[in-house]
Amino acid sequence: MTEVIVVGSPREAGELVAGAILRLVSDRPDAVLGLATGSTPLPVYEALRPHARALARVRGFALDEYVGLPAGHTESYRAVIDREVVGPLGLDPARVRVPGDDIAAESARLGGGPAADELALATAGDRYEQALAAAGGVDLQLLGIGATGHIGFNEPGSSFASLTRVKTLTERTRRDNARFFASPDEVPQHCITQGLGTILRARHLVLLAFGAAKSDAVAGAVEGAVTSSLPASAIQLHPHATVVVDAAAASRLRFLDYYRQAWAHKPAWQQI
Ligand code: GLP
Repeated sequence: MTEVIVVGSPREAGELVAGAILRLVSDRPDAVLGLATGSTPLPVYEALRPHARALARVRGFALDEYVGLPAGHTESYRAVIDREVVGPLGLDPARVRVPGDDIAAESARLGGGPAADELALATAGDRYEQALAAAGGVDLQLLGIGATGHIGFNEPGSSFASLTRVKTLTERTRRDNARFFASPDEVPQHCITQGLGTILRARHLVLLAFGAAKSDAVAGAVEGAVTSSLPASAIQLHPHATVVVDAAAASRLRFLDYYRQAWAHKPAWQQI
């Protein structure tokens, strides 16, 4: 089953998940982390800061990226990952990939120009999948959840078999993310995101959610029907998925008492 852990605060969630990451890295210093953007995973990155030395050899793959932002835009996920994760944790930037981060280089290799740009974009997902495979896959994938039930940028309707590809954002997601841009029109229409199939290949999924606004999406993901209409419900198909939520985000879970009981009595050796 999906393990649900209800914590007292985002900070507590950050400590718990950072602990799991540090255990992983102490076993394998060059472990592969699946990195998520958004406000939700920030407490994890914060809790990891004092342990930056242990993370020097870690490799990272981000979940998603906007398509069409000018190079170096401060809200591109490449910029966000560099600012919030790579810099503060002292990761090696060359070991951290973001979908589509090789499009300019690939276009140049193809001779440049609009046709080369288009081809480089169209094939970026395949190259990202190859890079993930070459790295041996993701050991621990951090996930937030959007109000539409999306993970990464897999909007409703995404195939459970989907791999990294270009997608169109829903208007709801564009509206939700408009707060990061000068105007709502500036939010791109398109993104490039790991697919649900890509995410399901990670060895451990850790989905975090805080606040009442996420409670419906969390209940749907954990206890609702497994359906592409709620992409995060794909986690129910994963053999090792951990959902870490605060009480508000957990408030619509039907089996909440059981999750609390299971966590309270979890044998120490089992870890998350
Ligand atoms: C964006 C990201 C998702 C993230 C979601 C929720 O759409 N692509 O990966 O999970 O926002 O963001 P937040 O954590 O800020 O609520």
